[in-house]
Amino acid sequence: MPKKNFDLQAVKGTHDILPQDQFIWEKIRKEIREVAEIYSFSRIDTPILENLDLFKRGVGEATDIVEKQMFVLTTKGGDKLVLRPEGTSAVARAYAQHGLSHLSQPLKVYYEGPFFRYENPQAGRYRQFHQVGFEVIGGENDPIYDVQVMLAALRLLESVKLKNLTIHINSIGCKVCRPIYKKHLLSYYKNKKKDICKDCNRRMTQNPLRLLDCKEDKCEQAKKGAPNIIDDLCSVCRKHFKGVLEYAEELKLPYQVDPFIVRGLDYYSRTVFEIFMEETSQSGEKITGPALGGGGRYDFLFESLGLKSTSAVGAGLGMDRIVDVIKSNKINIPVKQKNKVFLIVIGIEAKKKGLELMEEFIEAGINISESMGKNSLGAQLGSADKAGASLALILGQKEVFKESIIIRDMKTGVQETVLLKKVVAEIKKRI
Ligand code: HAM
Repeated sequence: MPKKNFDLQAVKGTHDILPQDQFIWEKIRKEIREVAEIYSFSRIDTPILENLDLFKRGVGEATDIVEKQMFVLTTKGGDKLVLRPEGTSAVARAYAQHGLSHLSQPLKVYYEGPFFRYENPQAGRYRQFHQVGFEVIGGENDPIYDVQVMLAALRLLESVKLKNLTIHINSIGCKVCRPIYKKHLLSYYKNKKKDICKDCNRRMTQNPLRLLDCKEDKCEQAKKGAPNIIDDLCSVCRKHFKGVLEYAEELKLPYQVDPFIVRGLDYYSRTVFEIFMEETSQSGEKITGPALGGGGRYDFLFESLGLKSTSAVGAGLGMDRIVDVIKSNKINIPVKQKNKVFLIVIGIEAKKKGLELMEEFIEAGINISESMGKNSLGAQLGSADKAGASLALILGQKEVFKESIIIRDMKTGVQETVLLKKVVAEIKKRI
């Protein structure tokens, strides 16, 4: 019976990271480790699976993430689990579960890995994507940490040569002042129901702040005269925001205050921010892509999880988006290439000797490639070329007999013969 046809494509919204792109990912991971070390963030890894309730309570029931974007699965035992849509709630859970408040505070941790959101895939928006996150948990809710996580995020982006970056900063107040602002916002929108999209009409009852970050054209128009939350901040939030801006000024961060940044996760209070990069389109027009990163303060997340109140602030950056920008802007990521060595063997005796020789190279810490399955010299030289080898070692019957080997410079074609017992030492000098 013929096999049923099936779609041999990566699942919608997911993508492969091919060998030829791995050096960009590796460079980003290396820079993440360096930035983490400079600012004293320790690595934390949490599972990809978490309980559904963690995000319902952490991120918030009325958010797009929880309402529409989670991959939920039910175990055979009936537990409801999700593929983590974000990392902050998971880190808060781990902090409480392992009593990390007993370590020196604030605890600074970072993570990097895959996250999952059931979104409409488009440029820069995937269903499986990778995020790096920096979190500062516990201790005082000092604005200095708000700025430090922005700085770490910025340094990371700069380390992979991204330019024209701007941090859009806002404060969304606290439990005391935000309700007052919400009232003002709703009274502004009261007579605008016809001017905004269906989703925004729903937001009016469920999550009014999100009226401010809808990207629909008519909603963009409607929000133009909306009241500014900064005018309604209570004195404590105002002081905190002033502190954030003062530190940002001191550090000369490329920032601008943006009253429309409200973030799509409910756990934030006071500082919120997003980082954008301005690019020039092919027609010379200035365009701003999707946010490369975002974050903010989440002093009330622990309480919403039923835990002891703990102040915290953090940032998350989309690694796939960073890679996309590096590629679309043709940013040169230098690859430190060691001279690659390729072993060519002709004849059965040479194959046997070649295997032995490879072990000697491995023991000496030298990687050596081969295509011993091919027989002819030409085919093997072709493979060496494709592999980008700079040196080829050629072992034929004559060489085996004379216990020697040919070293060929792949660029110039110049060849020399050396004794087999000396070849490892000789190659060591050249790579
Ligand atoms: P977020 O803004 O939802 O925040 O995500 C942070 C970054 O992840 C975004 O700016 C974007 O670059 C990337 N990202 C998000 N969704 C996608 C997607 N579907 N495809 C590709 N990239 C995406 C958070 O997740 C918070 N946990 C950040 C945070 C850490 N706040 C405090 N600490």
